[in-house]
Amino acid sequence: MNCTVDIKKEGNKVLAYLPFDPRTEFNIPKGSIYVKCVIENVQFKSKLMSRGSGRYCIFFSKQLLKDIGIDGEEKLNVNLNIELDTIADIPQLTESPEMINNEVLNAISQRASIRKFTDKDIDQIQLNTILNAGLCAPSAMNKRPFHFVVTKDREKMVSIIGDNPYVKMLRSAAACIIVCGDKVVQGIPEWLLADCSAATQNILLAIHSIGLGGVWCGVKQGSNFYKGIVKEFNLPKHIRPISLVAFGYPAEEKQQPNRFELGKIHLESW
Ligand SMILES: Cc1cc2nc3c(=O)[nH]c(=O)nc-3n(C[C@H](O)[C@H](O)[C@H](O)COP(=O)(O)O)c2cc1C
Repeated sequence: MNCTVDIKKEGNKVLAYLPFDPRTEFNIPKGSIYVKCVIENVQFKSKLMSRGSGRYCIFFSKQLLKDIGIDGEEKLNVNLNIELDTIADIPQLTESPEMINNEVLNAISQRASIRKFTDKDIDQIQLNTILNAGLCAPSAMNKRPFHFVVTKDREKMVSIIGDNPYVKMLRSAAACIIVCGDKVVQGIPEWLLADCSAATQNILLAIHSIGLGGVWCGVKQGSNFYKGIVKEFNLPKHIRPISLVAFGYPAEEKQQPNRFELGKIHLESW
C-alpha cells in the first residue's frame, strides 16, 4: 500500500509514524511486524516499532537517510510504499521456529563471552582438546595458515594488556591463546582473517563445551595491543596476531537470549 509519512527527529532517533494501525491492516494480531518499504526508489526492510495505542513507526539509520537522499534529518510528506515482509507470512519461520537440537547446536546457541574467572588452573588435557578444535577449523584451499601461541604466564598476560581497556580479563584468565595467521602461507588478507576467525570460533565452542568459559578479544592491526603481543611473544614478521582468546573456569553465569532475528534473514533475494 502507499501512504504519506513525515520523517522527523524524535530524541536521538529519526523516525516516521505510520498513518494506520499495521496490526489491523496486515492482520498480525501479535508478535513482531516486519515490512518491506520503498521511499524514493530505495528499498529497505524494517521491523516496526510500537509506540503504544496502535501507533507504529519506522526508524531510519544515518545510512538509510543518506541512501534516500535526505540531507537533514527531516522531510515531510514523503511517499512510502509499505508491504508486509513475506518472511513473516511463512508460518515455519517465526521468531521461535521449530528447530533440531543436539549437543553441538546447543553449544553454539548457549556459548556466551565469559570475562570473569576463578583462580582454578586448567590442565593439559583440556588445553589439548581446545587446541585440537582450533586445528580442525576449515581454511581456504585447506592451507591451514593458523598458529596458536599459548600462555598461562600471568606476567605475560598482564604485560600485553597495555592501554587496551577491553582485555582486562587477562588479569584473571587461567590461560590465553593468541590465534595467529601466516601471511606467507595465505597471502590473501581476507582469507587469512576468515581462516583464523573460524579457528577462533572452534576454540570458543570447545572451551564452552568442556565447562570452561572464554572470550574472543580482537587484535587490531597496528594497535598498541597488536605491537605488545608481537613483542612479548617474539612473533616473526610474517606472522600476524588476529585474535586472542582468554579463558578459564567461569566465575559468572550467562543465559543467552533467543537470537533468531527474522529481519536478518532474506529468502531468495534481499
Ligand atoms: C572480532 C571480535 C572482537 C572482539 N573483541 C572483544 C574484546 O576486545 N573484548 C571483549 O571483552 N570482547 C570482545 N569480543 C566479544 C564480543 O563483545 C561478544 O562476542 C559480543 O558482545 C556478543 O556476546 P556473546 O559472545 O556473549 O554472544 C569480540 C568479538 C569479536 C567477534
